[in-house]
Amino acid sequence: MGLKSIGIDLFKSVINESKENPDLLDSYSLNQFKSKENLLHHISKLELINPHIVILGSWYGSILIPALVDQAEHITCIDIDDRVIAIAKNRLLKKYKNIDFICSDVFDSKRKSRIKNSNLVINTSCEHMSNMSELPALYKSNAYFAFQSNNMYDIPTHMNCVASIDEFYSQLPDNATVIVEDEIEDDRGIRYTLIGKLCAE
Ligand SMILES: C[S@@+](CC[C@H](N)C(=O)[O-])C[C@H]1O[C@@H](n2cnc3c(N)ncnc32)[C@H](O)[C@@H]1O
Repeated sequence: MGLKSIGIDLFKSVINESKENPDLLDSYSLNQFKSKENLLHHISKLELINPHIVILGSWYGSILIPALVDQAEHITCIDIDDRVIAIAKNRLLKKYKNIDFICSDVFDSKRKSRIKNSNLVINTSCEHMSNMSELPALYKSNAYFAFQSNNMYDIPTHMNCVASIDEFYSQLPDNATVIVEDEIEDDRGIRYTLIGKLCAE
């Protein structure tokens, strides 16, 4: 699983869409590429075959979807913001047939079975929501997980940053075993990565 290219059609859609939604360009910043490519590198080592992937707080799916879509059996994007879901679903990524876009709080119990039954749960938005230890679906899951958070406390929408990788560990459900931990320097702080496996209780 890797990021070979994003494709000229997607590039054109991004330029067009970003006229009205400038935060779309932020999702393709060099910092975003650095952290997502690092995550993808670690995910590739898991050697998952045709996984069902769920992305929590998926935002526009800008980098992860093009990188993962060809190798995944299916991808579910869940985001609470109907604006980003609509743009990703109806404009940016509409050519992909193996993606479901769901506008929802990831903690909504209606999302439990989809998350529980996936093979890989990705959340690069951990700083935007409550701890993953508070997500019941993860305790019933045998999936791999790939989570990122950061120490960028001064960004107003960040409600749950961590100051260290140890603090990020403390946000995991207690049925999680970590395989890889990593830290990536960003212009604005440090991004923390934890990759591992859940074991259903
Ligand atoms: C700014 S974006 C992505 C930031 C992240 N650092 C990254 O690079 O992927 C954070 C996303 O999380 C979503 N989000 C926050 N809380 C959520 C929740 N409880 N359920 C679903 N999506 C959520 C927001 O709507 C937003 O699209």
